[in-house]
Amino acid sequence: MAEKQPGSPQDDHPSGSSPAVRPDQIQQLVDTCREAKHFSYCPYSSFPVGAAVLTWDGKVFSGCNVENASYPLAVCAERTAIQKAVSEGYTRFRAMAVASNKQEAFVAPCGACRQVLREFGKEWDVYLTKPDGSYIVKTLEELLPYCFGPEDLKTP
Ligand code: THU
Repeated sequence: MAEKQPGSPQDDHPSGSSPAVRPDQIQQLVDTCREAKHFSYCPYSSFPVGAAVLTWDGKVFSGCNVENASYPLAVCAERTAIQKAVSEGYTRFRAMAVASNKQEAFVAPCGACRQVLREFGKEWDVYLTKPDGSYIVKTLEELLPYCFGPEDLKTP
């Protein structure tokens, strides 16, 4: 498997930033997160969310929010997708897309999800979508500036 540990240099891109995600991959992410939203288990909030993450080598994992009668145990769509990917051995990511039903808003990951995504680098992209399929894109660095990550635990 061509995966690397978080925070390790990305040798096919010396700056450490992701090369551009191809337009067809963006469309795949947008489509997949919208499909994943249909599996949302959200009987308490009635706020379905879908997410899709693109691994470094082109695989896509989807996720939805999964709520619980014990409310704080709800898991966001973004974390479902990341945990599915990591649990299958993927820790290097190029991009994620997120979808909700809110017509007027580009849905953005909550603070907890931003921290979970940031664990796997700051230089990858999050596509915030609307139900009409339009999107804006932000890097993790933009979503979570001045953040704490695995590098901060390294001893000098
Ligand atoms: N939620 C997500 O899945 N992702 C987000 O980015 C924001 C919020 C979920 C959590 C909860 O199930 C519902 O949306 C309402 O907060």
